[in-house]
Parts: sequence; structure tokens; C-alpha cells
Amino acid sequence: MIDLAGVKNHVLLCNGDSCMIRGGEELTQALRDEIALAGAQRSIHTTRTRCNGHCADGCVAIVYPAGVWYGRMTPEDGRALVRRLKAGEHLDSMAFHRM
Ligand code: FES
Repeated sequence: MIDLAGVKNHVLLCNGDSCMIRGGEELTQALRDEIALAGAQRSIHTTRTRCNGHCADGCVAIVYPAGVWYGRMTPEDGRALVRRLKAGEHLDSMAFHRM
């Protein structure tokens, strides 16, 4: 079981069909790799999801508890997002919705 005590950000990575066609697997792998490189496995938790209903904005990633939705994410954007989250910031250039 995963220890969630130190988790500060939960990143939902859309692995629905439309996002996967647009590179969802590559985004997922790059983002997770950057988390490992940053040693942030305890503070940034990721979960693959099915379609989040915003296929036109794929690849979609959503970060809680901030409730920020990111669209048209590339693997490099995923790496940049991890670096921002680690610094307590967001990747404003890719955000299309805030809760
Ligand atoms: S498949 Fe990702 S939002 Fe629909």
C-alpha cells in the first residue's frame, strides 16, 4: 500500500483513447520519470485515468488539490510540470481550467 502521508500533489493522467492517440503514454512515462529524477515520489502521486471528457484538449493532466486542468501536454510539458510542482508552483502556460 502506498504511504500517502507526504503527498502534496495528486496528478491524474488521462489515459483515455483520444489522449493516448496524442501521446498520453509518452506523457505518463516522462512525467513519472521526472518525478523519479527529482526524488519526488513521496510528494507527487500519479494515477492513470480513463477519459476526462476534454478530448479536444488532450493530452490532459489534472492536479489536485489545486484543481488545475492542463491541456495539450507533451512529454516535455510533463517534465516541466513536475519541476514546477516541486517548487510549489503551477505550469500556467498549459492550464485551461481551475476549479
Ligand atoms: S481521452 Fe483524455 S480527455 Fe478524453
